[in-house]
Amino acid sequence: MPEPLFSNRPSSERSRDDLAEEDALLTGERTGHSYGDVRSWKFWREIGLFIWAVIATALVIVLAVIYQKAQDPKHSSPHPLGKRNLIFMVSDGMGPTSLSLTRSFKQFQNGLPYNHQLVIDQHLIGQSRTRSSSSLVTDSAAGATAFSCGMKSYNGAISVLPNHEPCGTVLEAAKKAGYMTGLVVTTRITDATPACFAAHVNMRGEEDRIAEQLVGDYPLGRVVDLMFGGGRCHFLSNSTENSCRSDDKDIVALAKANGFNYISDRKGFDGLKGGKAVTFPLLGLFADTDVPYEIDRRNENDIYPSLHEMAEAALTALGEATKDSEKGFFLMIEGSRIDHAGHHNDPAAQVHEVLAYDKAFASVLRFLERDPTEGVMVSTSDHETGGLSTARQLHATYPEYLWYPGALANASHSAERLGLEYGEFLSKNPSDAEKTTFIKSSASSGLGIENITDEEVSKFVEEPEIALYYYADMISRRSQTGWSTHGHSAADVNIYSSDPKAALPLVGNHENTEVGDFLREYLGVDVAAVTKELREKGANLMVTDADGQQVSWMGKLPEEGQRLDGQNHVTSFGKDYRKRGVVHGRGCACGH
Ligand SMILES: *[C@@H]1O[C@H](CO)[C@@H](O)[C@H](O)[C@H]1NC(C)=O
Ligand SMILES: *[C@@H]1O[C@H](CO)[C@@H](O)[C@H](O)[C@H]1NC(C)=O
Ligand SMILES: *[C@@H]1O[C@H](CO)[C@@H](O)[C@H](O)[C@H]1NC(C)=O
Ligand SMILES: [Zn+2]
Repeated sequence: MPEPLFSNRPSSERSRDDLAEEDALLTGERTGHSYGDVRSWKFWREIGLFIWAVIATALVIVLAVIYQKAQDPKHSSPHPLGKRNLIFMVSDGMGPTSLSLTRSFKQFQNGLPYNHQLVIDQHLIGQSRTRSSSSLVTDSAAGATAFSCGMKSYNGAISVLPNHEPCGTVLEAAKKAGYMTGLVVTTRITDATPACFAAHVNMRGEEDRIAEQLVGDYPLGRVVDLMFGGGRCHFLSNSTENSCRSDDKDIVALAKANGFNYISDRKGFDGLKGGKAVTFPLLGLFADTDVPYEIDRRNENDIYPSLHEMAEAALTALGEATKDSEKGFFLMIEGSRIDHAGHHNDPAAQVHEVLAYDKAFASVLRFLERDPTEGVMVSTSDHETGGLSTARQLHATYPEYLWYPGALANASHSAERLGLEYGEFLSKNPSDAEKTTFIKSSASSGLGIENITDEEVSKFVEEPEIALYYYADMISRRSQTGWSTHGHSAADVNIYSSDPKAALPLVGNHENTEVGDFLREYLGVDVAAVTKELREKGANLMVTDADGQQVSWMGKLPEEGQRLDGQNHVTSFGKDYRKRGVVHGRGCACGH
């Protein structure tokens, strides 16, 4: 017999039997105890209890494992689901404070009581944690990849993983399974959120390539049945006016060759008769770049359709088209520019974006109530933008507890629009006196500000490239709205649903990838099979880059340390305007 492990301890502290027992527990060997031939009833009762405890514990473990497996989608066999529709709404950049801001604004503007809620307020079910694989602060690309693929990736990734392999998306898997699919946004349809559902590129700035993939020029062919949004400039050859492509490919022609019907203006949209006269597949691009902010768009309703109009038309068309099919549809609707208003720190633009989203949210609820097919809507944000707060300390002394929605109500234009107009005005080389007059007049007519200070005016003269920020700052200060960044923040964001029972897995606080898990599980689709197909078909697929180089179909890899979350995007965003002879966004991270 080996030396007991604790035999070197002083024997005065413990009896030799204690040590031997402890040793036996550690080594699994029997002690040298002898109990004699006659064992007491007490001894046998203890043995019995012990065996019972072992069996009971084993039983609990077995049941727990079985339950776990049943809960785990990887182990549950695909069960037949009834016909169903899934509408996924994304409020890009909308944190919880955006709701406080907008609710108070709406109450102020309409003389409503303090307990009046937005429609969306009445459907809160949970929260999402938003970090990406590369940062605690995500961008929209990694955020949407968490939704589309159900996996974390790096900032800038359009449905590719950190190892630069493509990951199949819920929309692609839905298409394969026989669902119809759609994307409705107010930004460029090539921007990160929509792109993540039906394109795969290593860097979000590759919007030209994303445009090609969205219309079916990639390993899976065409997967989107309906697209409404902006970003037309990425579909036009560089020889065309208002193009922002760096090559001469005509993506509208490519879309048509792939069967798409194409509309590009309000007249075309009205021709759809609210969705009753849609021929699929359909590509509707209503703006060169982003659709204007709602605060500006509402005066240009004859040029651009609103978010809720586009959402309603898409719902009607997809509902009608799947009326007699076995499968329903998957539609992603994004309030894209809540994020941009956050980047611009423009609270007046933001409240109108959130109200427009709330209206689209109500449209979706009405559709689900009316439509006989089972369906659910889930709404969440990819992240918060701006570090928004409904308070602001303007002076060093103890602050008053106040913020003023009235200052937002007096604004009739976005800071972005006023900044663009100032940029156009500057191209006529005005004198400083003329600039001062222009700024005072635009602050008055655009923002309802009559008491602009000399100090404020001088900022516009000194730093015209960030005039947009100064317009937004004047509104923010007068309303005492606070911002901590022109970028995103790591705040948790809210999750909403039309039906908390159907969306039960999203009740409570969740990782953003769990939203992605829910989407695929609700539809009962096989995303892993799509991933496999993408990897097989795309394995050796090369394409020619704008500069003539052969690159992977997902484009170049980011260079070591290259920032993808904003820098690239600002370049492409600004470019669109430069093409039209307007300097925009120089030096400012204006929207991503
Ligand atoms: C347009 O794209 C082609 C390549 O596709 C390129 O050779 C040409 O220089 C581009 N033209 C402009 C004006 O950028
Ligand atoms: C909004 O405009 C009204 C009318 O010009 C003015 O009386 C009021 O002071 C303004 N409110 C704010 C907060 O600037
Ligand atoms: C301008 O007027 C508004 C509304 O009366 C007021 O709240 C604000 O403090 C004034 N701002 C300046 C810079 O005078
Ligand atoms: Zn953003």
